[in-house]
Amino acid sequence: MANPAKDIASFYTSERAKSLLASLDEYNIPRHVAIIMDGNGRWAKKRGKPRVFGHKAGAAMVREAIASTIELGIEYLTIYSFSTENWTRPEDEVKGIMSLFVEVLERELKSLQEKDVRVKVIGDKSALPAKTRAAFENCVDKTKENKGLTLVVAVNYGARTDLVNAVRSIATEVEVGSLRSEDITTDTIAQHLSTAKIPDPDVLIRTSGEMRISNFLLYEIAYSEIVVSDTLWPDFDRDEFLACVIAFQHRARRFGGV
Ligand code: IPE
Ligand code: IPE
Ligand code: MG
Repeated sequence: MANPAKDIASFYTSERAKSLLASLDEYNIPRHVAIIMDGNGRWAKKRGKPRVFGHKAGAAMVREAIASTIELGIEYLTIYSFSTENWTRPEDEVKGIMSLFVEVLERELKSLQEKDVRVKVIGDKSALPAKTRAAFENCVDKTKENKGLTLVVAVNYGARTDLVNAVRSIATEVEVGSLRSEDITTDTIAQHLSTAKIPDPDVLIRTSGEMRISNFLLYEIAYSEIVVSDTLWPDFDRDEFLACVIAFQHRARRFGGV
């Protein structure tokens, strides 16, 4: 979608951004950007602060990422905010993250509405504390008619669990006779994942320099371009976002062809 806002020059004001903008191809904007927002803990540690301090700073950066996607005309932004494995963290950190969700969702709802953002959640909400679940449900419900950016929040999400759920529901359809096993295609699987109806990510960004997937969107990223940024998530500003989009644009996507 080649639809960057006209005031792009006023959105990007730093010298770095100005030189990056010169190489942005406005006709090759990714449709869907997925981000593994990593490095909050290290960011806090560098400052001698508790990990939750890093998560707070990280949450503030989500606003910046949303602004970037809207500015660039990206249609879908998926953010990995809590994995099925993150429950193994110390109790106070998990509690801190769960209450941070409530705080941020309540605080940002008005601005999401103004920006016409539609919020979707992937992951198992049933295991979340009641207040956190309610805050997500409220945000999804209040923004469901919005027509702008689709913001997909992965919370208590794990791609393996998502695949298990998909396999179970496909198996049930076979059991009751509404689907024949020989009719199962790659598309059938895609349509039973929590990301059904969302196009596959064109680019997967991981911050903080880690080169792993950590159980995120295993099926959907088959042909996504992976861009690793060394920046810790709380420092991942609009300039670094732009640099990642440009890195994506320099890739030759071949999808198995030549
Ligand atoms: C990512 O930052 C946020 C979540 C996983 C919730 P981390 O908390 O993983 O930060 P590091 O990787 O320890 O620096
Ligand atoms: C992935 O980051 C999960 C989220 C960003 C929510 P982690 O920090 O949990 O991943 P690992 O432990 O480094 O693989
Ligand atoms: Mg991490």
